[in-house]
Order: sequence, then C-alpha cells, then structure tokens
Amino acid sequence: MNIGIIVYSQTGNTLSVAKKLEERLSAAGHSVNLEQVTVAGGRKSGDRDFQLEALPDVGRYDAIVFGAAVEAFSLSPVMTRYLKQVGSLQGKKVACLVTQFFPYPWMGGNRAIRQMRKLCEAKGATVLGSGVVNWAKSRREKTTTRASDRLSGLFKP
Ligand SMILES: Cc1cc2nc3c(=O)[nH]c(=O)nc-3n(C[C@H](O)[C@H](O)[C@H](O)COP(=O)(O)O)c2cc1C
Repeated sequence: MNIGIIVYSQTGNTLSVAKKLEERLSAAGHSVNLEQVTVAGGRKSGDRDFQLEALPDVGRYDAIVFGAAVEAFSLSPVMTRYLKQVGSLQGKKVACLVTQFFPYPWMGGNRAIRQMRKLCEAKGATVLGSGVVNWAKSRREKTTTRASDRLSGLFKP
C-alpha cells in the first residue's frame, strides 16, 4: 500500500513516534512517506495565531496516518486547521495518532482522537483506528510500542 504519514510536531515527540511507525510499515512491505505540516515563521507554544506553510498533499496516498499533539485537552489547532483545508479523503483509509504529556488517554488524548476522526470523516475518509502515546517517561515506551503495533496492523500490504 502507498501510505503517507502526515504529522505536525512542534517539539519532536509525535515525529519520533511517526518515524518508528514508518520503519514498521516499511518492514511490512508498504511504500511509506513521512511528511510534516509546518507553520510559517515557526510557532510559539500554544499560539493560535499562525499561518500554515507546508500542506502535504493527500492525493498521492491510498492510506494516511495523521499525527499531532494534544494541546489544552484538544487536538493541536495546527492539525485541526490543516485537516479542515486538506483535499478529499474519499476512498482513503486513515489512522489517527496523537501524543500527549499526561499519562492516560482520558486526559485529552481520547478527545483529540475524536476530533481528528470527525475531521477526517467529514472529508470522506474511512477511519480504521487510532493510537494515543503518553509522553510521561514511565509510559512512553509502552504506549509507543502499543500504538505502533496497533496502527501498523491496520494496513495490509
Ligand atoms: C500549549 C500546549 C498544551 C498542551 N496541552 C496538553 C494537554 O492538555 N494534555 C496533555 O496530556 N499534554 C498536553 N501538552 C503536551 C503535548 O501534548 C506533548 O508534549 C506532545 O507529545 C508534544 O508533541 P510534539 O513534540 O509532537 O509537538 C501540551 C503542550 C503544549 C505546548
């Protein structure tokens, strides 16, 4: 399958999980491309006044994993805006990934996933599943492995 992993990652956490997932999906025989959504001139922490710069094109992929951070118990506003602007996801299989600081998904992760899923479905995507990675040190490794197992298992070569 031709899979795009499209992330917004301000401090590198989501990007590092995306890289692990990229390795897993490539090893499983998929063609995988990791792309980043970026903000013009960078972005101060939590800033809601920004302009999107790089808008990865979803048209070339059969399946896409979208990834971003939880911000203020919600999906990152950068990913929210990108998903509102993105082209049609009709006929595409999608998985959603978020990373968060707090240790449990009910502390913002689940809500961010619901928001992401809704935005993707509004563009016609079939959302196959999701993963939440908790960045607090004690749970980081376990939740990263669990999310990459779950997400990589969603796509069949
Ligand atoms: C403005 C802001 C708000 C945040 N709000 C939350 C939150 O509500 N819940 C949480 O668990 N983590 C929160 N975090 C932590 C990030 O979700 C976490 O560090 C994430 O892994 C960052 O991903 P990134 O490095 O890919 O940007 C927040 C971080 C920032 C900068």
